[in-house]
Amino acid sequence: EMAEKAGYPHFMLKEIYEQPRAIRDAIHGNKEVISRVAGEIANYEKMIFVAMGTSYHAALAGKYLFQRLAKKIPIVEEASEFRYEFEDLVDKDTLVIAITQSGETADTLAAMKLAKAKGAKVLAIVNVVGSMATRIADLTIYTHAGPEIGVAATKTYTTQLTVLTMLAIELAKVLGTASEEYLKELENELEKVPGLVEEVLKHDAAIRELAENLTDRRDFFYIGRGIGVPTALEGALKLKEISYIHAEGLSAGELKHGPLALLEEGVPVIAIAPNGKTFDKMVSNIEEARARGAFTITLSDRKEAETFSDVLIEMPSLDELLTPIIYVVPLQLLAYHLAVLRGNDPDKPRNLAKSVTVE
Ligand code: G6P
Repeated sequence: EMAEKAGYPHFMLKEIYEQPRAIRDAIHGNKEVISRVAGEIANYEKMIFVAMGTSYHAALAGKYLFQRLAKKIPIVEEASEFRYEFEDLVDKDTLVIAITQSGETADTLAAMKLAKAKGAKVLAIVNVVGSMATRIADLTIYTHAGPEIGVAATKTYTTQLTVLTMLAIELAKVLGTASEEYLKELENELEKVPGLVEEVLKHDAAIRELAENLTDRRDFFYIGRGIGVPTALEGALKLKEISYIHAEGLSAGELKHGPLALLEEGVPVIAIAPNGKTFDKMVSNIEEARARGAFTITLSDRKEAETFSDVLIEMPSLDELLTPIIYVVPLQLLAYHLAVLRGNDPDKPRNLAKSVTVE
């Protein structure tokens, strides 16, 4: 096992550090497949993403990508909900996109089978080659992340996001819903993402130090807007899974509608605030939280965020649509270090399984 961990104390940390390689493989292993798949699915009006856990957060990011680039308005459902709510709404004119790392999650498989039975087209985005999901699906795109041993998903998430970004770009090409120059720019920037993840990984030591001061906190809040919302949800999920600290991820606009009442001295609020159309709104949310005594940690490429945050984790600049892939990385590291500092084994969190094969 030591050899398999390649010198890292845990599989999770190894897998976090493998992300530049994994994302590169996801890009280069998929160019042809994704452009072929895009051609086959572009004309579906009804598109429904189904997934669970971290894969569900990838699906939420997929929704934003499809909206912005392909001008599609997909629905995103937890697979466990889809099965009972969409029975009569799925037909041969429906595309169901199932996202599942393992390809074995019981609820996701059941949703896929239901969709097939109703005549829908089913596309699966899967990591494990030859898994059940790939046998049920009409079309499969692999994430090429390699085996993931840590129960908390890391590299499989960022590769799911990579594949979804590429698929949205290809759909936009087929449908003519974005300018060719812009799509080309996005493709070029995506090629740079593995290198940017490497840059972000350099914050590791600073994030560990930050974690050392937060081990006794009982609640964490993660806020974002737009395509930053799935990142907030995923950051909170990582923390819950392995550090056993209560955390909530939410869209920053919801802060005023309840969660603000829970903020008191020292409660960490982590803000996903890349430069983009919601940056200014995020600033007011951060200030609002800070005024209530919250300990604010901001992830941003805007240096001035330093002035209104307790801690700034400085991020590389890139198109807002690509930010989910790099902004989740500091959140994975924060959860990892908090878990280890609190004496937990991040690879084997209590009560959780790598793949949930019972419903
Ligand atoms: C379990 C795992 C999670 C994962 C979820 C969905 O809860 O612990 O890490 O996100 O299942 O798994 P899937 O294999 O379908 O992506």
